[in-house]
Amino acid sequence: MTERALAPSTPRAADGLVWIDGDIRPIDGATVPLEDRGFMFADGVYEVLRAYAGRLFATHDHLERLARSAAGIRLALPLTTPEIGEVVVELMEQTGLGDAEVYIQATRGAARRNHLFPDVPGRLVIWVRPPRAMNADLWAKGCKAITLVDERWARCDLKTVSLLPNVLAKQAAYDAGAYEAVLVRDGFVTEGSASNLFLVLNGELVTPVADNRILPGITRAHVLRLAERLEIPFVERNVCDDELPLAQELFFTSTSLEVLGVAELDGRALAAPGPVTTRLAEAFAGHARGN
Ligand code: PDD
Repeated sequence: MTERALAPSTPRAADGLVWIDGDIRPIDGATVPLEDRGFMFADGVYEVLRAYAGRLFATHDHLERLARSAAGIRLALPLTTPEIGEVVVELMEQTGLGDAEVYIQATRGAARRNHLFPDVPGRLVIWVRPPRAMNADLWAKGCKAITLVDERWARCDLKTVSLLPNVLAKQAAYDAGAYEAVLVRDGFVTEGSASNLFLVLNGELVTPVADNRILPGITRAHVLRLAERLEIPFVERNVCDDELPLAQELFFTSTSLEVLGVAELDGRALAAPGPVTTRLAEAFAGHARGN
């Protein structure tokens, strides 16, 4: 190997910085203890936010949901939500990033392995880094999706790091040549493996009701508000899986996907992005970027 190849690369703030229990360091190489409850038990909650051109989108909504998720698993956050917001702003400044992905994770801390709650402070990790590069073709042409059985627990409204069923569903979709899974529980459509789902049925926008079976997505909530503003009729209700083949349009929403049309579900072609999807995708893109 040449000397050049051996030279350690200098981490740059713009590659991402992480705040761990009060210290800020480059993401690359940052660690938490082996017995962190997040690692041992997936005992924690998280949030993913976006910043566009230096402007954070829906911070308040995300921090509110973080507090709700933490309360839902009886986890005391080590900082208040306004304090967490201040850390995020500090990291945005220190990285100098305009477009960024913000990740916040709180766990029940590190202690000798025991299922009972430990008597130690919780751990908070917050990072800011450039967003993942995405293939623009996906939005231009729409994605493929397959339906899968929703094998998750009964509190999908909490954003916990226990994501194994989501991981397995996403991988099964990928292995089937699809991008995302449409999850179905007891005959009812719930959501994607990492996104919420909308259908267009006879001109009406339909999305599964936000109960314990789905994560109340921040993008979902903003899309519903935009639909109201655009006078697109919409309803939140239980959706049967046998309604899926009747949908004229389908789309997923999430912080990282924004609004993504479905071009094929279980081998059936759909208009993607269809007219309602396109209107909402454009409206959301402008709204999230403050235009
Ligand atoms: N996922 N449903 C699930 C199961 C999710 O994991 C997500 C988000 C959503 C959409 O929520 P929001 O619009 O608030 O991002 C719905 C994030 C992005 C993730 O885990 O990376």
